[in-house]
Amino acid sequence: MTILEGKNITKKFAGLTAVNKVDFKLEKGEILGLIGPNGAGKTTLVNVIAGVYAPTEGDIYFKDKKISGLKPYKIGRLGIARTFQIVRPFSGMTVKENASVGAMFGAQGKTRSAKEAIKKAEEILEFVGLGDQMNVKADQLNVASRKRLEIAKALAMGPEVILFDEVMAGLNFSEIDQAVELIKKIRNTGITILIIEHVMRAIKRVCDRIFVLHHGEKIADGAPEEVLNDENVIKAYLGRRYKELIK
Ligand SMILES: Nc1ncnc2c1ncn2[C@@H]1O[C@H](COP(=O)(O)OP(=O)(O)O)[C@@H](O)[C@H]1O
Ligand SMILES: [Mg+2]
Repeated sequence: MTILEGKNITKKFAGLTAVNKVDFKLEKGEILGLIGPNGAGKTTLVNVIAGVYAPTEGDIYFKDKKISGLKPYKIGRLGIARTFQIVRPFSGMTVKENASVGAMFGAQGKTRSAKEAIKKAEEILEFVGLGDQMNVKADQLNVASRKRLEIAKALAMGPEVILFDEVMAGLNFSEIDQAVELIKKIRNTGITILIIEHVMRAIKRVCDRIFVLHHGEKIADGAPEEVLNDENVIKAYLGRRYKELIK
């Protein structure tokens, strides 16, 4: 079953076409990787899905209902959560307070009391492995823990779909492998995942399918093995570093 679909999505900024006539589908329960060089339009596509921008052309459908044009908080309430490429915790607040904000704004946020939101936040923080850092101020966390907090904030919204934007940037190999395990664990709870990542080590391990953007256009979409060996993808993105990247 298709849970999220984009039809002919175009997003222009003044003279620049950041996303150009892109079709995509996300099947319920899958992990779809979105890769491509810097500036390819990946984050813009996530912003269009999340309602930060209305598409210039085309529409987004969540469970067959058109959502493009809705405000981000409405899309969040419907069940789509996202992380931010630039991690931005509320720095004066503790880890638990940060995650509680997610729990207040998500799918069940409207009916949740503050006390229930905090309880939900605690559960999620245990789940992502931040159980022992709940009362630490968010700006005291190291990079790996900050990324986990970003994931926790999105999870606390109780989403059916999560959009991960480079949650592994800056992590070392062992932290990447732990993040891969966490993402699989999240999928095993029934959440569908779109993941933007440059870390091929992770993309190869975690994705059921990969699609590739280049200059705003989709240049490949298919099984990881097939896409990562595609001539155009190697030329546009993987390049000479390919052998090193796929280790
Ligand atoms: N708010 C914006 N205003 C103008 N140009 C933007 C804006 N956001 C992104 N862009 C441009 O759109 C293109 C795609 O950017 P982005 O989606 O961030 O790429 P990626 O995430 O793949 O690196 C880039 O050329 C970028 O400079
Ligand atoms: Mg980006």
